Amino acid sequence: MASNPNILITGGAGFIGSHVIRRMVNRYPDYHIINLDALTYAGNLNNLLDVQDADNYEFVKGDITDHDLVAQLVSEKKITGIIHLAAESHVDRSIEDPMAFVKTNVLGTGNLLDAARKVWKQNGVEGRFYHISTDEVYGELGPTGYFTEETPYAPRSPYSASKAASDHLVRAYFSTFGFPIVISNCSNNYGPNQFPEKLIPLMIHNIQHQKELPVYGDGSNIRDWLYVEDHAEAIDVIYHRGKAGETYNIGGGNEWKNIDLVRTLCKLMDDKMGRLLGTSEELIRFVKDRQGHDHRYAIDFSKLTRELGWTPATDFTTGLSKTIDWYLENQEWINQVTDGSYQQFYTRQYHER
Ligand code: NAD
Ligand code: TYD
Repeated sequence: MASNPNILITGGAGFIGSHVIRRMVNRYPDYHIINLDALTYAGNLNNLLDVQDADNYEFVKGDITDHDLVAQLVSEKKITGIIHLAAESHVDRSIEDPMAFVKTNVLGTGNLLDAARKVWKQNGVEGRFYHISTDEVYGELGPTGYFTEETPYAPRSPYSASKAASDHLVRAYFSTFGFPIVISNCSNNYGPNQFPEKLIPLMIHNIQHQKELPVYGDGSNIRDWLYVEDHAEAIDVIYHRGKAGETYNIGGGNEWKNIDLVRTLCKLMDDKMGRLLGTSEELIRFVKDRQGHDHRYAIDFSKLTRELGWTPATDFTTGLSKTIDWYLENQEWINQVTDGSYQQFYTRQYHER
């Protein structure tokens, strides 16, 4: 693939997006990286303080559902590559407000595809459109088996259904127009800068402040956890070397029952905070289950290893320890994101469980 010096990254102020931006800005000084982000509750420019003044980086505040803005950006900034991460990303919020997910994830992705296709066609740009997606599009697994790239789509939450719809649109642009897309579907990420509504940062925050630890159902649901910087590396590899029209699964090979993971966090934090071992576990509360709670996700990422040589690098104990340290050392970040609107969400989500 020819080098793509002007790259538009959507959702770069969010959790995974900020790690992708940092990696691309630092590793590819010849590229110009443009971050398009609407700065919703989940977007935070404080995630990017260390790269915000880099010569090869630029931030544009804007919504991916704004067709004119996107078409203008792709044209005027001579964008030749798009890495699309902007999304509504939290399952519980998708149960509360599905239409926000349809708007950003489906309409927004369609909008980006439409604008880029038209501008690239007009300007004779070969381009690359990389859509970042989730393993949740495959639905849920029982106790055995893995999601492969051939697993039929069977999404069960408004979040996963909206991501599945966006994946279908992206693939349709390849089959219909020969538009140069690539897709990856990744398992659960964890690491610094994750908004504290997701399991791991929520538990770290609550353990630190000795608040109750709400485990949904009986805690037997299973997720496959991947350190966010390993995901950013996979995205870098797939962006540069993935084959047009292909899908790559990304995973950690690291399955945990929620309750075991929460207990592990309790132990690690008791140790780090100088508390008597067992103190934090007493905060665990089994609460009303999530509606339509997917039982298990597990990813077969052997295609990505075989074809592009990627494997996860960070073992879970190291990754969790780094993550806890980051949250403990970045009180200001956590105070800023757990402001009024987060408190309202937290009360709605948890006070009746
Ligand atoms: P996030 O919620 O932390 O960040 C999303 C970002 O998108 C925010 O900066 C937000 O401001 C921005 N955004 C939202 N709506 C927008 C809009 N209409 N226009 C422009 N910007 C908008 O999400 P994340 O966890 O970093 O996930 C990033 C991507 O990776 C998503 O597409 C998600 O589906 C996918 N993914 C996430 C995980 C995970 O475990 N977090 C796993 C697999 C795939
Ligand atoms: P989450 O981080 O929301 O990711 P996803 O639903 O996309 O996998 O949740 C991870 C798992 O943790 C999921 O099985 C739901 C569960 N969970 C809890 O038990 N308690 C909580 O407070 C949250 C946020 C999640």
